[in-house]
Amino acid sequence: MKIKSSQSNSSKLQSLLDEADRLKKQIHQETLNQQELEQKYFSKNGLFTLISKQITKLPANQKPQAGKVINHLKQDLLNYIEELSAHPHDPLTQQAKIDLTLPGKKPIVGHLHPISQAINEISGIFEKIGFVRVRYPEVDWDWYAFTSLNMPSDHPARDEWETFFVDQPPHHKKGKMVLTPHTSNGQVREMERVKTPPIRMINIARCYRRQQDVTHTQMFHQFEGLVIDKGINIQHLKGTIDHFAREFYGPNAKSRIRPFHFKFTEPSFEVDFSCHICNGTGYLSDPNNPKQKTKCRFCKSGWHEVGGAGMVHPNVLKAGDIDPNQYTGFAFGWGIERTYTLKEGLNIDDIRLLYSSKLNFLQQF
Ligand code: FA5
Repeated sequence: MKIKSSQSNSSKLQSLLDEADRLKKQIHQETLNQQELEQKYFSKNGLFTLISKQITKLPANQKPQAGKVINHLKQDLLNYIEELSAHPHDPLTQQAKIDLTLPGKKPIVGHLHPISQAINEISGIFEKIGFVRVRYPEVDWDWYAFTSLNMPSDHPARDEWETFFVDQPPHHKKGKMVLTPHTSNGQVREMERVKTPPIRMINIARCYRRQQDVTHTQMFHQFEGLVIDKGINIQHLKGTIDHFAREFYGPNAKSRIRPFHFKFTEPSFEVDFSCHICNGTGYLSDPNNPKQKTKCRFCKSGWHEVGGAGMVHPNVLKAGDIDPNQYTGFAFGWGIERTYTLKEGLNIDDIRLLYSSKLNFLQQF
């Protein structure tokens, strides 16, 4: 090691201390024998000799500190060399040092990200009742994300999807390229794939929107159900939602649908699941005084909204080349992060944590 003359006094001292530290570690990696080590470290041009000479270049007030470190280093190096004479580098003696009775060190084993776990669980629930898991592009044409879903290019409803557009020349028929803001882009794609119903699709994919707060991330996941056949009605939709609620949240979970508006379903609904914290009552009672009730701060009056649903609009069936006079269908699309964080016992109050890459947070799931 050479301390550059251009270095400041404090950085000269620091690099000397760093070098001493490095040398102390280095000697433990050596495979040389005792004599060779003495030569390498303590000869006229040995590594230790060179370091110790650098003290002379330091200002007087730094020499005591550097001297102390260099003395310790010398002692450590000599101790190590001496110890080597008792236990030379011999594979057999090395083995003898290993205490086979000690418990082994457990390797750190990772696990699936909580959202991947939720995706697997959700797919399993729907696959058991005959849905087919599919995946459609996350970068898609405007036609699939909007126009085929009964939202012409100038329709104000598009604003709700706060979309990212990709800087690419538009397709002559399918329009601009977008990062899909919802998994509903899979609806017409699935109709094109299957051609003739029945269709029972579960499309799970990443979605993107220009949104960011405790309940919104710019990248999130949705799962989209689509069922099309002869005679499908709202009861089939409600039955499917109830089934999911019981399977995912437990046997006491309830669901409800409220009238809403989406351009691609008619009628349309918002879907709510009952709050497990207040048991769907909207109130929490004080354990010390059960008559004293306070408003549940986790939900809105006992319910959590998870996403939208409805009966597939005839114009969407037509866009997928399916005759709306013969077939009807229902669709739903819910946020996975939202649906998952409502599970009992999770209490995740900021979904951005899921993507923070903080291992101490993620290791809990
Ligand atoms: C839709 O995206 C419709 N495509 C749902 C749908 C499908 C309706 C089929 C009818 C038929 P909405 O914009 O409300 O709807 O989003 C649905 C859910 O996605 C939300 O309730 C929420 O759970 C989740 N979500 C939406 N934006 C974000 C975001 N930025 N971060 C996290 N989750 C989000």
